[in-house]
Amino acid sequence: MLEAQTPEKLAEEVRRRRTFAIISHPDAGKTTLTEKLLLYGGAVNLAGSVKARKNQAHATSDWMELEKQRGISITSTVLSFDYQGYRLNLLDTPGHQDFSEDTYRTLVAVDCAVMILDAAKGLEAQTLKLFDVCKRRGIPLFTFVHKMDRPSQPPLDLLDEVERTLGLRTIPMNWPLGNGPSFRGVFDRRTREVHLFERVAHGSRAASVQVMDPNSPEVERLMGDQSAYKAFREELELLEMAGEEFDAEAFATGRLTPVYFGSAVSNFGVQLFLDQFLDLAPQPAARRTDSEPVHPQSKEFSGFVFKIQADMNPRHRDRVAFMRICSGQFERGMKVQCVRTGATIRLSYPQQLFAQERQTVEEAYAGDVVGLVNSGELYLGDTLLGGGQKFRFEPIPLFPPEHFARVTLADPSRRKAFQRALDQLSHEGAVQIFYLTDGHSRDVVMGAVGRLQFEVVQYRIKNDYSVDCRFEVLPFQLCRWLEGPADWLAKFSPTRTTRLAVDPDNRPVALFPGQWDLDYTAEKNPDLVFHSVNPKGLQAPVTEEED
Ligand code: G4P
Repeated sequence: MLEAQTPEKLAEEVRRRRTFAIISHPDAGKTTLTEKLLLYGGAVNLAGSVKARKNQAHATSDWMELEKQRGISITSTVLSFDYQGYRLNLLDTPGHQDFSEDTYRTLVAVDCAVMILDAAKGLEAQTLKLFDVCKRRGIPLFTFVHKMDRPSQPPLDLLDEVERTLGLRTIPMNWPLGNGPSFRGVFDRRTREVHLFERVAHGSRAASVQVMDPNSPEVERLMGDQSAYKAFREELELLEMAGEEFDAEAFATGRLTPVYFGSAVSNFGVQLFLDQFLDLAPQPAARRTDSEPVHPQSKEFSGFVFKIQADMNPRHRDRVAFMRICSGQFERGMKVQCVRTGATIRLSYPQQLFAQERQTVEEAYAGDVVGLVNSGELYLGDTLLGGGQKFRFEPIPLFPPEHFARVTLADPSRRKAFQRALDQLSHEGAVQIFYLTDGHSRDVVMGAVGRLQFEVVQYRIKNDYSVDCRFEVLPFQLCRWLEGPADWLAKFSPTRTTRLAVDPDNRPVALFPGQWDLDYTAEKNPDLVFHSVNPKGLQAPVTEEED
C-alpha cells in the first residue's frame, strides 16, 4: 500500500502532466515526429526504434499473423517519458486508416493534440476527419507544418488554408527561413531569435543549432540564398504588420492554433516545438460526468476505459483495457468499482510503457494511461471509481461507420454464442452492430470505419467464440442516428435504396448508399435530426438497479 499523497503533492503531480495525441493523414510524418519527440525528450538515444515498430505494424496484408505473434500490443497505445520535470503521455494512434475509430476514441482521452500538416500537401482528408473530432471536444490544438526541407506550399497560403477550411485562427509561433533545399532553420517569434540548424545525415541524433539575431549579416551569409532570405524578411514584416498575438483563451477552447514549422526527419524545429509545447499545453483539467465535474486533484480515484485491445493470440484470451486516470492516486492492486456492473475490481496487473520499456505501474495520476489486463469484465466507456463515489463519465462517442456488411450465421445452433460475440465485440468497440428493421428478417449489419475491422472481427468470432459466419459487404457508405417527433416513422420518406435499422440500444439509424441519398432524405424529412455521431455514445446500460 502506497502512502496517500498530500493535496500539495497530488496537485504537483497533476501540474506536471501533459497528455496528448498526434493527428495526421497517413505519411504526413507522425511516426517520424513521435520518434524525434522521444529523441529530444531523452527517452531514446537514437531515433529509429519507433519507425522499426511501425513498419511491422504497417504490413497490413499479414496484419493478423503479426498480431498473433506479437500478442497484446501495449506498445502502440501510450508512450510516457519525463522531460524537464514534466511527465509526457503521448497517446499513439493507429498508423493504418482502417483503425481510425481507435484514433477518434483516443482523442477523448487526451488534453490536447498536435496536428501535423505535410508542407507540400496542406490539409488532407484524414486530417479533416480527425480535426472534426478535436473540434467537437474543443480541445487545444497545436499545428506542426512538417517536411519543410522539401519544396512546400508558401507558408502564408498554408495558414490561410487552415483558417478558411477549419475555421481556426492561426498564430505562427515560429517562421521558416527558406523552403525546400534552402530551408535552414526557423525564427522563434517569442524570443526573436533565429535558430539555424545543421543538416544531419539521417537525423538520428539531435542536430546542432546556432542561435542568432535575425538582422545579423551572418544569417544571410549562412542561408547562402539571397532570394530566400529576402522572402523570409518580407513575410516576417507582413506577420508583424498583422500584429496577431497569442490568445491563451482562444487556444484553450480550440478556436486558435499555434503553428510551428519544421522538419522532423532532419531535426529542424523539433526541440523548439517541444519546449514551447510544454509551456502551452494544458495540464489535465476537470472532466464532465453525469453529476458534478471531477477535478484531477480531487483525493478520490476515478478513471474511464477509452480503448480495448484484444489479444490476437488464441492462447491468451485476455484483452487490455486502457484507462485514462481522471483524478486521485492510482496504485497497483487497488480496488475500484465498475459503475456499470457495480462489481469491485482489483487492478492487479497495470501496465505502462515508460521511455519505451514496458513496466508494471506502481502509482499514477490524472492524465496517465494505464493498461489493465481484462478478461472481459471491462467495456469501452466504463467508469471506474474508488472511495464509494457514484457518477459516470461522459459516454465515448460512437463514430459513423463508413463500411457495412451483413453477417449471417452458418450454423443456426450457434445463435447464442453468436449473440454473445456480437454483444461483447460491440461493447469493446471493435465494430458497431445494427439490426435491419425494414425487411422481413432482423438481419445483423456490422458497421466499421475501416474494412480491416471486419477481418479482425471475423477472426475473433471464429477464434474466441467458435462461430462460423458469412460476411457480405453492403453498398452503404453513410449512417445517421435519427431523432424526431413521436410519429416520425409513419411519415418517413427516404430514397428507395436507404435502409432503416436500430442500434443495440434500439435507437433508429438510417443507412445510406451515398451523400445524395442522405441529402435527399434530409430534405424530404425536415422534422428529423440526422446525427453523424451517436448522440448517446457508447455506454452499456447499468445492469444493477440505479439508486
Ligand atoms: P506517418 O507515420 O504519418 O505515416 O509518416 P512517417 O513518419 O512514416 O513518414 C512518412 C514518410 O515521410 C517517410 O518516408 C518519412 O521518411 C518521410 N518524412 C518524415 N518526416 C519528414 C521530413 O521532415 N522531411 C521529409 N522530406 N520527409 C519526411 P518513406 O519514404 O515512406 O519512408 P523512409 O524510407 O524514408 O523511412
